[in-house]
Amino acid sequence: NERTLVLVKPDGVGKGLVGEVISRIEKKGLSLAALELRSVSRSVAEEHYAEHQGKPFYEDLLEFITSGPVVAAIVEGPRAVAAFRQIAGGTDPVDKAAPGTLRGDYGLEVQYNLVHGSDSVESAEREIKLWFPDY
Ligand code: GTP
Ligand code: MG
Repeated sequence: NERTLVLVKPDGVGKGLVGEVISRIEKKGLSLAALELRSVSRSVAEEHYAEHQGKPFYEDLLEFITSGPVVAAIVEGPRAVAAFRQIAGGTDPVDKAAPGTLRGDYGLEVQYNLVHGSDSVESAEREIKLWFPDY
């Protein structure tokens, strides 16, 4: 079994989509190994998005992800990394995410794309260590 880190970002929490995200994860057949509502410190945000340091949207990204509570989860199952990326849809909610995905159904702008899912097994391990050091 594989594990992936999922975040419902502040916009998703604000729009009341936590239940919808969890519901789609469960209906797909994946399971929750950890689940928590929490605020995000600047330092966790910087580490989480380290790969984007120097990009033009980096500061906006940090500001946004620390702007309100997020729901962080460890999601588990066969091919969990790719399976959640499928549920989430492409990064841009209009140009890339298909209807039927979370971003395709509920998103409009690339910065406000509702959810995060690790992009590889290696990223998942790094992110789970960062968000859930005891797991
Ligand atoms: P995450 O699951 O959040 O990591 O999204 P992703 O893997 O689909 O995209 P990526 O890691 O490339 O980018 C991380 C986040 O930065 C995205 O989810 C967007 O919220 C944001 N982002 C990416 N590209 C842009 C951009 O061109 N402009 C802005 N404002 N934000 C962007
Ligand atoms: Mg990413």
